Amino acid sequence: MLPSSTSLWQFLERQVAAVLASYGYREIRMPILEMTELFKRSIGEVTDIVEKEMYTFEDRNGESLTLRPEGTAGCVRAGMEHGLLHNQIQRLWYQGPMFRHERPQKGRYRQFHQIGVETYGMQGPDIDAEVILLSARIWRALGISDLELQVNTLGTPRERADYRDELVRYFEAHSDQLDDDSQRRLRTNPLRILDSKNPAMRPMLDGAPTLMGHLGEASRAHFAFVCEILERAEVSYVVNPRLVRGLDYYSRTVFEWVTDKLGAQGTVCAGGRYDGLVEQLGGKSVPAVGFAMGLERLVALLETLDPAAAKVSTDLYLVLLGDTAMREGLIVAEQLRNGLPGVEVLCNCGGGGMKAQFKRADRSGARYALVLGDDEIANNTIVVKPLRTDEQQVAITRDDVVEQLRGRLQGDADQSAEKM
Ligand code: HAM
Repeated sequence: MLPSSTSLWQFLERQVAAVLASYGYREIRMPILEMTELFKRSIGEVTDIVEKEMYTFEDRNGESLTLRPEGTAGCVRAGMEHGLLHNQIQRLWYQGPMFRHERPQKGRYRQFHQIGVETYGMQGPDIDAEVILLSARIWRALGISDLELQVNTLGTPRERADYRDELVRYFEAHSDQLDDDSQRRLRTNPLRILDSKNPAMRPMLDGAPTLMGHLGEASRAHFAFVCEILERAEVSYVVNPRLVRGLDYYSRTVFEWVTDKLGAQGTVCAGGRYDGLVEQLGGKSVPAVGFAMGLERLVALLETLDPAAAKVSTDLYLVLLGDTAMREGLIVAEQLRNGLPGVEVLCNCGGGGMKAQFKRADRSGARYALVLGDDEIANNTIVVKPLRTDEQQVAITRDDVVEQLRGRLQGDADQSAEKM
């Protein structure tokens, strides 16, 4: 990520952090390396991630470590180790790089970044609804308006096992239409066949039985509650019975936010409930719900929108002519930063003639150049030259410069607010 794109990243991270804070979520920072076993036991041995995408190696003690492919497993591991999960309510979030050895393409990278949310200790559908509403608010805060929310329920492990049997029977009856990958999945992870992107299999998949028919009363009520809250909060959604997710730990609610603006890699955020995972990893049973969003994909979306709030440029550029000005300039810049908190002041360093320095000032995007040369130092003044308007430059007494600039910068800000 080069400096030309990091302002957009910072905008994204700022907006998301503010929304998360407004819902009372607390940040957790987890290590990037974990024991390989953790991911095998949580994500599932026969998932794409564990079978072929992990960056796994032995350390000097011969222990197998893996660069985390996602954050949920590590969050549960850390939560268990530090007593955050049992008999407690937690609303957590994290951000950072994740690693998957996938085939790189637009929107899919081997190192990518997520902001994730994980909640613990809440059994009811209210928290499922809350995390979805929270994600919807994040899109509003970012100015992203045309994502599609897809939701589904995977039922309980028991309900899913019943369904799995029926599904396997259906696929066996249509085995001539299964591609090689699906033939293999038929034995290992038949639900994932539903997720296949192979267009030749579409008609057969469209006719496959759905899980809805195998749901018990409690699972139905759970899902109905989530849907009701989404409707009441005016968050539109579609129920996608084929949404199964690529990680094994989910139960009941699953969801994805999808865009058609990014080509094949259109899922910008995904998650759901994973009640069985804590127990599966050796803890006492703790209900859990979470999601993670892919920051590269969101940044790519934001690039198509070009949000003004993400733009950063310098406010003031100090042009320093001569040796005395070079010394004095650093002190003036400090005084400006003391008096004008939040204002970006770039002090010319590295010398250069007037022309070169004005070129740098222009390239920095500064609104004003402040010029200090021998004359100004002798008169105790500084020249303020607007760079983005036709206004004339003026010489201002050094003692008044902070006050004057405060007024001008405020005036500029008011004007641009009026325009919006
Ligand atoms: P996931 O669906 O594997 O879920 O990833 C979540 C999001 O990360 C995806 O929707 C996508 O935006 C982004 N993503 C995944 N792989 C890549 C990649 N190779 N390049 C760029 N972006 C990518 C999880 O990771 C779960 N831990 C989410 C979760 C949290 N479920 C419950 N809690």
